[in-house]
Amino acid sequence: MDWGIKNRLSRLIPDGRCLWLPIDHGYFLGPTTKLEKPGETVKPLLPYCDAIFVTRGVLRNCIDPNSTKPIILRVSGGTSIIGEDLANEGITTSIKEAVRLNVCAVGLSVFIGSKYEHQTLLNLTRLVNEAEEHGIPVMAVTAVGKELEKRDARYLALCCRIASELGARVVKTYWCENFEKVVEGCPVPVVMAGGPKVNTELEVFEFVHDGLQKGAIGVNLGRNVWKNEHPVAMIKALRSIIHENATPKEANELFESLKKEK
Ligand code: 5RP
Repeated sequence: MDWGIKNRLSRLIPDGRCLWLPIDHGYFLGPTTKLEKPGETVKPLLPYCDAIFVTRGVLRNCIDPNSTKPIILRVSGGTSIIGEDLANEGITTSIKEAVRLNVCAVGLSVFIGSKYEHQTLLNLTRLVNEAEEHGIPVMAVTAVGKELEKRDARYLALCCRIASELGARVVKTYWCENFEKVVEGCPVPVVMAGGPKVNTELEVFEFVHDGLQKGAIGVNLGRNVWKNEHPVAMIKALRSIIHENATPKEANELFESLKKEK
């Protein structure tokens, strides 16, 4: 593997595992709850994540350029939650810009099975061609738009495999039942997205732990962290599962004790 790609991936995945924090949601959701001021939301969480996933606008305006936290730059978009179809994405940000922003990876969504499958898959291949010339790895996000019910092992395995075949170095997908089928069919590392906030912290700890046992290398998990009433306790508890092999029960106990701290 190219030295630059390897070096960037090793900064993003420090010990073979990763905890990435996405704060890119505003690119189609606008000032969504708890992310109205992304810089303020993310500041107390930065010490505990391995990277943030962010658009260039939020990076330039809300993140301190003195920060050494690795960046994964969201480079697809062009749609909104009130528009016709979330899947109709293009590439929004040039590789020249990604190089200038000194990012460790670029990420874009593919919408497999949608009307825009072909377009978004060719976005991926174009991005891989351009990014790899500069030693920048591409993360593909297997997005489902509003169709959350699509998230089963058969569909997600298909999406992850296709994204890897087309050149993604990492694939971000949803956790699902029989998640081993998703990971086994994908020759590049798989990270788990969180999806909408779930009811209890334990549910999050359980699916993250399960996904790791089944071969995922970590998470790129946003709303279930920064929408939590105790986001710092939440990210520290997740960190204990990902980087210290804690069980869901141990992580929950840690969360309960940390949330009492001021
Ligand atoms: C939005 C994204 C987000 O980065 C992704 O959904 C992860 O965040 P969450 O855990 O909140 O689902 O790719 O398209």
